[in-house]
Amino acid sequence: MAEVWIKRDDIQGVALAGNKLRKFDLVLGAALADGADTLITTGAAQSNSARTGAAAAAACGMDSVLVLRGDEPDVPTGNLFLDRLLGAEIRFVGDVGWRDMNRIVDEVAEELREQGRRPITAPVGCSNPLGALGFARAFLELDAQLDALGLEPSCIVHTSTSGGSHAGLLVGRAMSPRNTPVVAIDAGQLFGRDPRPKMLDLARSAAELIEVELELSVDDLDIRLDYIGDGYGITTSGSREAIELLARSEAIVTDPVYSGKGAAGLIDLLRRGAGDGGIDGGINGPVVFWHTGGYHALFDPANGVSVLES
Ligand SMILES: Cc1ncc(COP(=O)(O)O)c(C=O)c1O
Repeated sequence: MAEVWIKRDDIQGVALAGNKLRKFDLVLGAALADGADTLITTGAAQSNSARTGAAAAAACGMDSVLVLRGDEPDVPTGNLFLDRLLGAEIRFVGDVGWRDMNRIVDEVAEELREQGRRPITAPVGCSNPLGALGFARAFLELDAQLDALGLEPSCIVHTSTSGGSHAGLLVGRAMSPRNTPVVAIDAGQLFGRDPRPKMLDLARSAAELIEVELELSVDDLDIRLDYIGDGYGITTSGSREAIELLARSEAIVTDPVYSGKGAAGLIDLLRRGAGDGGIDGGINGPVVFWHTGGYHALFDPANGVSVLES
């Protein structure tokens, strides 16, 4: 039996929640200071990041353009429904790769500039160095909460894809007296078989922005690729089990694309750690599970049905 503490980024009060709000908070703050009037960002059709960008832009009085992968469905559901409700302009670009999507974002920015607008862009997952710093700040927030609770977790476990959350947590940890291991459960394999170099680069660039020393090598990064199953967005038996367990025991909602896979990783690592454990294999409690949100995608039938299939 392990003690699990959950950091509830899934229920933040603004912009319908999720980890991306921490990133857009800084990115849009800087954009407003620069006089920007439109956010252009990108992601999958059910992107939580794009939806959060649209929500945060609306709350700041800015317009938003979302460059979304795939084709326009007949009925917008889940995040896509919210994108529309939030007033975002949506451009579907078909089945293109992540790098091409960031390139298309730049092209849209050029187009808007020619029309006299002042756009700013945010890449997939809002994982640029400034966005990642939102998670450095988040680590320090957790730090204070752990002090108040008198709690020393054996590690922090969170879901990861574009790496901004992980990179930021590493920067925040370097600013804190706590050296808690941070374990990323990769749900997207955006950077191939070894995402560590890209994530370390991002962490270094973020740390440079605020002049923090980051003494890390790739081997210090702990990114688990074992929980993706058949791919990004595809439900696994582990994620289904985790989603049901959290819903039925704690009434906490996770989703099959992101937080359900993170929770599946957490459960497996705790099972493997029950014994003598150790971070290289399993883990022991107490542990902090960083709930990064994402339940909105459950209201897309493709995702929701895959969870209830069993
Ligand atoms: C709900 C949720 N959790 C986790 C992640 C992964 O965060 P990051 O892209 O910072 O690695 C995402 C990214 O879209 C997300 O939407």
